[in-house]
Amino acid sequence: MSRVALVSGGSRGIGAAISKELKDKGYTVAATYAGNDEAAAAFTAETGIKTYKWNVADYESSKAGIAQVESDLGPVEVVVANAGITRDAPFHKMTPEQWHEVIDTNLTGVFNTIHPIWPGMRERKFGRIVVISSINGQKGQFAQVNYAATKAGDLGIVKSLAQEGARANITANAICPGYIGTDMVMAVPEKVRESIIAQIPAGRLGEPEEIARAVAFLVSDDAGFINGSTISANGAQFFV
Ligand code: CAA
Repeated sequence: MSRVALVSGGSRGIGAAISKELKDKGYTVAATYAGNDEAAAAFTAETGIKTYKWNVADYESSKAGIAQVESDLGPVEVVVANAGITRDAPFHKMTPEQWHEVIDTNLTGVFNTIHPIWPGMRERKFGRIVVISSINGQKGQFAQVNYAATKAGDLGIVKSLAQEGARANITANAICPGYIGTDMVMAVPEKVRESIIAQIPAGRLGEPEEIARAVAFLVSDDAGFINGSTISANGAQFFV
């Protein structure tokens, strides 16, 4: 029987590429989304992947949504915590609302996505967790105090979960994508985006599929001894 994989924010951007890659590799995929019904319906029509709507920032909604996925598809053995938002502003202009929205979705949302699934993984003695962090969690970024804090926080989450889960054959790893050609990066003003691309030695934005293939490896049986690690995929823009 194929393993069930849950991808948060899995109907658009990097998440959609991850959902498709895992489906192609034989997983039964559930893709969550927060609000864009039209994009989710189009994604399901195109791929046949089931989508589920809930707000990852809300624990009870996440718990209920995950229970629904498990009742429909079976126990979730692979979790990709990918859902994330930006609310960029220089710090002197950043509002408490912008801070909290990003923390609630990108950081608390990771807790809410993994926590309800964790007890089952411990019982079954198998689990694969990948958190999609960011280059900006590694290096910081002008106008992203909120976002960079969450993405750095993701690295602490996986390093801690790795230690807690290792004896139960659960791995938790992070991928730090650089600038990838998604709506999120396209929302950056064009002039700023051009200057970003100029700083990428590869001379181009990354493709969502380049992140998806790394996820597929980390969740495979072959990657069982890779635990608590951070993989950078950024076209040589930044090294830790
Ligand atoms: N470094 C240093 N200074 C910078 C800068 C940078 N990277 N970017 C802008 N500035 C400067 C500007 O030159 C300007 O200076 P002056 O006041 O001297 O003109 C000042 O900072 C910006 O002031 P503004 O009042 O114009 O700023 P704003 O309130 O209009 O905000 C912005 C503009 C939100 C910062 C906009 O430029 C922006 O969105 N920048 C991109 C930030 C970014 O890279 N976000 C990443 C998004 S993609 C992502 O997050 C995915 C991922 O994981 C990689």
